[in-house]
Amino acid sequence: MPLKPDNCTIIIFGAHSDLAARKLFPSLYELALWGNLPDEYRIIAVGRSSLSHEEFRQKVYEKMAVFFPKNVQDEAALASFFARLFYVGVDFTRKEEYHALYKEIMEGGAALAASHNLLFYLATPPALAPVIVRNLDHAGLGEKDASCAGWRKIIVEKPYGSNLQTARELNTVIGEVFHEDRIFRIDHYLGKETVQNIMVFRFSNGIFEPLWNRNNIATVAITIAEDFGIRDRGAFYEEAGLLRDIIQNHALQLLASVAMEPPVDFSADSVRDEKAKLLRSIRPVTPGNIGGVVVLGQYEGYRAEKNVAPDSTVETFAAIKFFVDNWRWKDVPFFVKAGKNLAETVTEIVITFKCPPQNYFGPAESCCYTANQVILRIQPEETIAIKFGAKRPGEALITDPVFMKFDYKTSFSEVGLTPYHRLLLDAMAGDQMNFIRQDSVEYSWAIIDAIREAARTKPPASYPVHSWGPESVQAIYS
Ligand code: BG6
Repeated sequence: MPLKPDNCTIIIFGAHSDLAARKLFPSLYELALWGNLPDEYRIIAVGRSSLSHEEFRQKVYEKMAVFFPKNVQDEAALASFFARLFYVGVDFTRKEEYHALYKEIMEGGAALAASHNLLFYLATPPALAPVIVRNLDHAGLGEKDASCAGWRKIIVEKPYGSNLQTARELNTVIGEVFHEDRIFRIDHYLGKETVQNIMVFRFSNGIFEPLWNRNNIATVAITIAEDFGIRDRGAFYEEAGLLRDIIQNHALQLLASVAMEPPVDFSADSVRDEKAKLLRSIRPVTPGNIGGVVVLGQYEGYRAEKNVAPDSTVETFAAIKFFVDNWRWKDVPFFVKAGKNLAETVTEIVITFKCPPQNYFGPAESCCYTANQVILRIQPEETIAIKFGAKRPGEALITDPVFMKFDYKTSFSEVGLTPYHRLLLDAMAGDQMNFIRQDSVEYSWAIIDAIREAARTKPPASYPVHSWGPESVQAIYS
């Protein structure tokens, strides 16, 4: 558990967002309850509507009662949290309205104003980020402002921009107002215990790393599957699509963690150097090579979802065969598959090793029947399994696949923090290890932009709800 963060004011743009209701306020409340927030803190929620502090607290209460009924049981703790939660109504695009925010920050809490530590959180659609940052600067709330006495940091929710160009523009705008070491581009996957464990698994064990390369590994398969649709996020999905919602960030970060070189040390920059280098090594998809490499899909019924166009060609599924053109991974396929409304909810990485050169034991049909695998299950189970062949009891020498399994739940009694707990604390403490650096965000967008461009004229193939995607997906495994 990190040390207690410095006293600070947390300012959340997107006060009415789903993310704020489901993740940010509940996580902050729990951190307060567990004593992990600073001794002095205030949370200022910023939204467009005009509400009193009390009206806003009531709204947060109502959502919390629905999503996290347990959180509303301790009335005294909740009252103490709400006493530090404030609301300011601001039209994000109007710079003159930021004075009210400035006033609330600087004059609302005397003790905190003295500390001058401000953590901004943009839980807003990507198109709003540049204007908010510019307006913060105009109001004298930027980190590079001459008046900045304590620390000022900014967390930016994904998607960070909506393509390479907008991400670059956003990097430029934010870079004028905050130094890079104060910018926290969040991808909540990096706050997951099991994702952080990928590097620990690889680099704290001597037995895996010597095998972790093209000489021994046949394929790597990364799956991020959800058995539910877009829920009430039709408008967002029509803008984003699955490539931008899941592949650009979560999937590529998993790929980078599993394939990166060992860092020089375990500092945030050394780790992020290696991830950036890895992302840079991914072979670009082009109109010439897209066949058999990318399959996009859309679940049946997507076009009838709320706020979705009846002729939408937005993808809710993607399967991509990536190649990492470096010394370690040349020609090893990385199969990345993600989708909504698939057969199961599961995130996992399966590393399949090459088969032994000779098949001495039955069954005869496949020498790869028991190909060794390391299966890193990220969620819902938090397990690592190693698959190997063992002799089936009996007269004949027949191999069967068996598994050795580690399970977080049974091996550890400690309960891990959720990603938002952890990443909020990391940002307050200034630890950037699990946030995306400017170069990586741009490399990831370049990969996604190339796929989108190459697939522009191909509408996604339809797939039945609760299946494993369009039939054509088989093409990428051949
Ligand atoms: C979000 C995506 O970033 O991650 C959602 O916008 C997705 O579409 C979610 O459902 C998955 O996160 P988790 O942690 O619930 O698996």
